[in-house]
Amino acid sequence: MQAKACHNIIPPRLLPPAKLPSTASHITLPSHVPRAITITTSPTHEVYTPVPEIDDTITAFWDYQFLFVSQRSEATEPITLRVVEGAIPTDFPSGKYYLTGPGLFADDHGSTVHPLDGHGYLRTFEIDSGSGQVKFMARYIETEAQAEERDPVTGKWRFTHRGPFSVLKGGKMVGNTKVMKNVANTSVLQWGGRLFCLWEGGDPYEIDSKTLKTIGKFELINNNCESLAEEQKFNGDFLDVAAQILKPILYGVFKMSPKRLLSHYKIDTRRNRLLIMSCNAEDMLLPRSNFTFYEFDSNFQLLQSQEFDIADHLMIHDWAFTDTHYILFGNRIKLDIPDFIFELNILLNSIHKWSAGRRRFIGEPIFIPRGTTEDDGYLLVVEYAVSTQRCYLVILDAQRIGEKNDVVARLEVPRHLNFPLGFHGFWAPSNTSNGNLPNFESKCKDSWSMLEENMVYLGNSKNSR
Ligand SMILES: [Fe+2]
Repeated sequence: MQAKACHNIIPPRLLPPAKLPSTASHITLPSHVPRAITITTSPTHEVYTPVPEIDDTITAFWDYQFLFVSQRSEATEPITLRVVEGAIPTDFPSGKYYLTGPGLFADDHGSTVHPLDGHGYLRTFEIDSGSGQVKFMARYIETEAQAEERDPVTGKWRFTHRGPFSVLKGGKMVGNTKVMKNVANTSVLQWGGRLFCLWEGGDPYEIDSKTLKTIGKFELINNNCESLAEEQKFNGDFLDVAAQILKPILYGVFKMSPKRLLSHYKIDTRRNRLLIMSCNAEDMLLPRSNFTFYEFDSNFQLLQSQEFDIADHLMIHDWAFTDTHYILFGNRIKLDIPDFIFELNILLNSIHKWSAGRRRFIGEPIFIPRGTTEDDGYLLVVEYAVSTQRCYLVILDAQRIGEKNDVVARLEVPRHLNFPLGFHGFWAPSNTSNGNLPNFESKCKDSWSMLEENMVYLGNSKNSR
């Protein structure tokens, strides 16, 4: 899943959630999108309307729509999921899988937002191998925008922020300063014993890991780095002058922070550091990019920060690091929804593949190590079976990908709690003592990213990271 970075946060042209395939223009479509996920709080009011397969193109169009249907219900108490295939392995390391992403795309007043602007909806799967059970919870992140847009009494929604990627029904294209809408929907992190949901271009929100209640906004970089904005170099060139003009508008009118935190962090397990990156607010309107990298210890103390200027307007989302480099990926604009997991063995030069099946998509896989060898462990992945409108948690044996018995267990989310496509997740094993937990992202995902994206290498840090 690749989200657009903050540099194009005010796109020149608003993007629709999906484009109808041109080949389908002569085909009569259903008059409305059937609701896979209903606006209910009770499983007794389920509405399930299977989508007929008209042809591949049309079916694919509707399948995409179902990945982004609002779920207004929350599961604030743990619900035990039904195992529909296999069983939780007894050697599965117990822990909790957090998955965040957008939850709400349409309000009660006719406005619809782009999936990237959907309010953050945090899902958790708590796996207990002792009892062989998985407990599910889901809750909206109570951001400032959510508090403004959801009526606490009636539960009705009215979008007032158009969002960086959306426009509201009857909303003004120009003059609407409520563009920035931190919905904390992009990634989730546990660090220093605390849990956070992050957004692409704003402060994280801290979450209570047991109840999933929102504790509040956590000003990680602006608390630590108040002087950074003032310390910026001013060379007096045209872009610097333009930046000086833009800053009061962006900070004052659009209420943007000078440094906008991005959602992709890295954990340096060897040095026990949290690495995170910000961009400058004004760079989204200028043909240049400024990135600041921060390194924190487990007490959230800033150990190191370094700023880089790149004379290019870059679309940055994910990145990597080595002992001496930060590595940025210049992304294309796209929304990838995979339906395969590929395991590429560089020693044996072999490829193994697992597919959820036709009209079934998957989210970001997460690797859960079991032993000491590199691929000894499990892959956790959420499956979106749009053909039957169900969500599943699937456990795969990483050493058996492509074999008959690669699926170890499949657990079903109750239909009334079906959820839209998630973005990024975090695995928190329950046996760590200090809460500083490594994020085991899938090597498969990393491989895709590396292959697809152009890399921009940033030079040696003066602090020799
Ligand atoms: Fe991402």
